[in-house]
Amino acid sequence: MSSPLILVNLKTYKEGMGSRAHAIATAAQAIAQESGVSIGIAPSYIDLHPIARHFMIPVYAQHVDGSEPGAHTGQITAHAIKAAGASGSLVNHSERRLTLADIEASVKALQMQKLVSVICSNNEITSAGAAALAPDYVAIEPPELIGSGVSVSKANPEIIRRSVAAVRAVNQKVKVLTGAGIQSGECVKIAVDLGTDGVLLASSVVKAQEPAVVLRDLVSKL
Ligand code: G3P
Repeated sequence: MSSPLILVNLKTYKEGMGSRAHAIATAAQAIAQESGVSIGIAPSYIDLHPIARHFMIPVYAQHVDGSEPGAHTGQITAHAIKAAGASGSLVNHSERRLTLADIEASVKALQMQKLVSVICSNNEITSAGAAALAPDYVAIEPPELIGSGVSVSKANPEIIRRSVAAVRAVNQKVKVLTGAGIQSGECVKIAVDLGTDGVLLASSVVKAQEPAVVLRDLVSKL
């Protein structure tokens, strides 16, 4: 059985840019090595290339467009994020919502480049819809809990349970992550015990004085 994935989204927090992004990646790589747990990070586009080149951990883009390379000013192509060294991308994050057609195009573009796709969803119905597009992961995140400091694992375990069942009913190969307010090893353990393949989180690591301390706690019960 493969290790759960702890995926840390640096968003556009100032605490997750430049040298801080490198510090978080350094901590993530050290704790992934000591624990054997897969820890990935999703830095801003600006930091994607240097982080992907300097570290062995999986590095994800925060969003990708479905466009082909060519005359599309300002678009983020799957080809470009692969060339930058990324392993994959989030798609349809709650803070970067897309139309259904856009989500499909982004997932296809990632698949063409053999990159990992993580479609974010907000409830079990959209989780099932996302699974129909056959991404590698669906990440269920109740929007009201994002950045709240209240963990989905504790506040709404039922939505995790129902989303895992909804995704499995559509496509057994699609893995499930959950996120929103994840902050401790206990949150991660609850999520994994409910059938997920890991967690997607941000503020508890990015805004921590010492991200390594939080990361070590996150993997402590796996
Ligand atoms: O992408 C992860 C995110 O939306 C959850 O954020 O700060 O609640 O861990 P946070």
